[in-house]
Amino acid sequence: MTRILLRGCAGRMGRMIAELSKQSGDVTVAAGVDITPFEADFPVFTDLSECDVPADVLVDFTRADGIEASADYACRKGMALLIGTTGLSDTQRELLRKASEMIPVFLASNLSMGVALMARLCRDAASFLGDGYDAEITETHHNQKLDAPSGTALTLAEAVRSGFGTEAPYVYGRQGRAPRHPGEIGIHALRGGTVAGIHEVHFFGHDETVTLTHEAQSRGVFAAGALRVASFLAGKPAGWYSMSDVVSGGENGRTVTEETGSVVISDSPVASSFQQYGKDGWTVFLPESDEGRNAVLIRIEDPALDETAAAAVLTDLSCKGISFLLAQAEKGRVLLAVDPFERDTVMSFLS
Ligand SMILES: NC(=O)c1ccc[n+]([C@@H]2O[C@H](COP(=O)([O-])OP(=O)(O)OC[C@H]3O[C@@H](n4cnc5c(N)ncnc54)[C@H](O)[C@@H]3O)[C@@H](O)[C@H]2O)c1
Repeated sequence: MTRILLRGCAGRMGRMIAELSKQSGDVTVAAGVDITPFEADFPVFTDLSECDVPADVLVDFTRADGIEASADYACRKGMALLIGTTGLSDTQRELLRKASEMIPVFLASNLSMGVALMARLCRDAASFLGDGYDAEITETHHNQKLDAPSGTALTLAEAVRSGFGTEAPYVYGRQGRAPRHPGEIGIHALRGGTVAGIHEVHFFGHDETVTLTHEAQSRGVFAAGALRVASFLAGKPAGWYSMSDVVSGGENGRTVTEETGSVVISDSPVASSFQQYGKDGWTVFLPESDEGRNAVLIRIEDPALDETAAAAVLTDLSCKGISFLLAQAEKGRVLLAVDPFERDTVMSFLS
């Protein structure tokens, strides 16, 4: 039985997760934390640092400004960390990436399986249609939602951008004299009532429109996803996990790790020889020129990849317009080095 520490237990999502856990045979709420007083059939603390109840996974559905405390607590206790809270800054994401070197971390702007599928479909649609189609995203949520646009809309925008293979700028809402520029991705937030979440991604072309829609009919879908992910994360080794790991069971799934380093680029497109780089497994071109530069190094480990499938990963990335400083595909593993500005595109494609 996976024991969760539920931070934000008095909130809409927290209450839904606690309720669903009662019917779950896999997950139980060991304790809750909330700054709002709350009566529950598990111990509730107003301050995370006061909680000494043993648990396997810290599940956070609070506000972005408290994320550091959750990461710190989970690292100190050696617990897995599931962050459902949205509206995080780049610095906070970076902090969670660092935490994933010590503990298993899962950051999801949306925990429904349908949205995970929609992100894939958006990437494929954008890649298929090309950036001659105008992509516009609308998201609709209840009138209490704090952040705009939703984290899910941004995830879908990243998927579209990755499919286009461009650095398409995001334009949030339009007002006044605001013509649409080619290649931009429009993102628009609607707020009202009790809507759990509707996301629509439109691709407008000449005389045709393709629209992908996801509608969450209740928060139950996110709460069920949170329980499934919590159960998956418990006991996993440190790392950065995504919904595809959960779907594949993680054991045979793909893990993608990254680090920043310096790669010396060969002048020749064909490496004459390789040498070991830093940590185990990294190989790079033997330098043929002295020109050095920084790069993001990405390693994909997937036992299911045979040599052809590993090479296909590189071909797929090339088709997306991504160029490598270094690439190597072999059975079970792909190694790449990309320019830092390509990092997000590559990671959103791989995860
Ligand atoms: N990932 C997903 O699938 C998903 C789905 C729905 C909502 N969300 C996100 O989850 C978050 C919570 O949503 P909600 O609708 O439950 O909000 P909510 O306002 O109903 O609940 C938030 C709760 O967190 C508590 N809280 C705030 N700061 C805290 C702190 N520092 N320590 C302890 N408790 C604190 C509040 O008292 C409140 O009870 C939002 O960021 C929302 O966007 C994510």
